[in-house]
Amino acid sequence: MALLCFILFCWFHIGLLLGGFSFAADPVANFELQFSYITASPLGVPQQVDSSLPSCRSSEWEVSRPGIEMRRSSWQDGVLGTNCPIPSNWNWTYRFQVKDQIGSYHYVPTTHFQRAAGGFGGFVITNRKVIQLPFNTPDGDMVITIGDWYTRNHSALRASLDAGKDLGMPDGVLINGKGPFKYNSSVPDGINHTTLNVDRASGARPNPQGSFHYGSINVTDTYVLRSIPPVMIDGKRRASYNGISFANLDTPVRLADNHKVKGAYKLDFPNMPRSGSPRADRSIINATYKGFAEIILQNNDTVVQSFHMDGWHMGNGQKTTGVFPGGWTAILVYLDNVGAWNLRTVNLDRWYLGQETYMRIINPEDHAQKTELPVPDNALFCGELGHLQKPQRSLASSGSTMRQPRKVNWWMVMAFGGVVYMMN
Ligand SMILES: *[C@@H]1O[C@H](CO)[C@@H](O)[C@H](O)[C@H]1NC(C)=O
Ligand SMILES: *[C@@H]1O[C@H](CO)[C@@H](O)[C@H](O)[C@H]1NC(C)=O
Ligand SMILES: *[C@@H]1O[C@H](CO)[C@@H](O)[C@H](O)[C@H]1NC(C)=O
Ligand SMILES: *[C@@H]1O[C@H](CO)[C@@H](O)[C@H](O)[C@H]1NC(C)=O
Ligand SMILES: *[C@@H]1O[C@H](CO)[C@@H](O)[C@H](O)[C@H]1NC(C)=O
Ligand SMILES: *[C@@H]1O[C@H](CO)[C@@H](O)[C@H](O)[C@H]1NC(C)=O
Ligand SMILES: *[C@@H]1O[C@H](CO)[C@@H](O)[C@H](O)[C@H]1NC(C)=O
Repeated sequence: MALLCFILFCWFHIGLLLGGFSFAADPVANFELQFSYITASPLGVPQQVDSSLPSCRSSEWEVSRPGIEMRRSSWQDGVLGTNCPIPSNWNWTYRFQVKDQIGSYHYVPTTHFQRAAGGFGGFVITNRKVIQLPFNTPDGDMVITIGDWYTRNHSALRASLDAGKDLGMPDGVLINGKGPFKYNSSVPDGINHTTLNVDRASGARPNPQGSFHYGSINVTDTYVLRSIPPVMIDGKRRASYNGISFANLDTPVRLADNHKVKGAYKLDFPNMPRSGSPRADRSIINATYKGFAEIILQNNDTVVQSFHMDGWHMGNGQKTTGVFPGGWTAILVYLDNVGAWNLRTVNLDRWYLGQETYMRIINPEDHAQKTELPVPDNALFCGELGHLQKPQRSLASSGSTMRQPRKVNWWMVMAFGGVVYMMN
């Protein structure tokens, strides 16, 4: 994890120089990330974690970058409702514009509970020289990722959830892939650690884009999403919003629309908590283009929950909002971003157990693809559309091609391409 983060960070800076100097207008920066598993011992116990070194096995993969807006292009969002998973041993390039989105972000795997194995890291977007900031140029960026860590591997954790068990207390906390962290400097021998000296500073923030006067907004759609503790649905322990536990889509929403696939999803997600027994379904929200939606998140679960909606900044540049048990929060979004956007709890176990849905936003008057970018030419096909997928040259064994890539492999490449508005 730390290694991955470091590599991305270095390449980002290389990208900055090349991009900044070689193109005047819209510089493009490319970042290549290789995901694979290695054995490491961040808490002193050897286990399988994500890294960028060739080794072991892997499985299909997707990566999302929460908080980056992906204007008009949910095609690049990297969740199962928008993208087919990248088969193991294949590469795939996400292309997206990060204009007007200066800030700190992260990338994170979204399939098969892989987030629990690491594989996430920082992603910093800074300004181009021609764009003034309302504060002094920062001396630098420090990427710090902090999270619970289990010494069980991600497949073992997933198996626990599938068997209806709680994950229990994490075995420790990792900071940038290292641990254990204590309030003093006594770290046992053989445990990797880092010391960071931080002088806190403050500065004005850039104005959020498109701010509205909240009091004068006429809300057109209200959704109350209530989470409750996991319950049994068809003999399995599942988590839900409004009594719907989301069943993974086989065919991404907009790909299904484009190819007129029927029954890939249902547009009947209830906009209020429902009575009656919860069910597992492929229910998504039929949202109104250019509506002002008020989304009220009610946490009736017993744990603190964080919610995230892809495709937007939530509130003033916020990407995620936290809600205490028994509490609620409301977010207001102007639904001008056409596509299918994931709304989910960030709590990994609850998300895995079905606490998510999508908002499908369509501009009924757009017949010329002005409000949504066309399907990218490298789109992967799966589910009902799996027969359209062309074989790709396997990365592991040059010469062989793979169509049904569900085999053991060594490594996988995913390239991030972006039109990046860059720094000094
Ligand atoms: C500590 O980090 C080094 C270099 O990244 C690595 O080779 C070593 O295996 C790590 N040790 C543990 C206990 O994780
Ligand atoms: C990714 O795959 C494409 C198509 O098979 C190939 O042209 C490209 O060179 C590959 N890129 C990397 C970085 O392996
Ligand atoms: C993950 O952990 C389980 C249970 O400890 C073990 O059986 C399995 O081999 C591990 N998988 C890998 C790839 O290390
Ligand atoms: C640091 O903390 C550990 C326990 O967390 C304790 O055993 C040790 O004495 C502490 N060392 C110092 C120098 O305070
Ligand atoms: C909200 O609706 C009221 C009454 O229809 C109207 O006067 C007002 O201009 C609307 N506000 C906005 C921001 O559209
Ligand atoms: C979705 O909403 C639009 C109006 O925004 C409506 O015309 C359409 O019938 C709805 N579709 C379904 C399946 O409810
Ligand atoms: C659920 O949340 C609502 C809104 O905060 C609250 O009124 C209600 O008492 C909660 N019910 C339970 C069972 O927690």
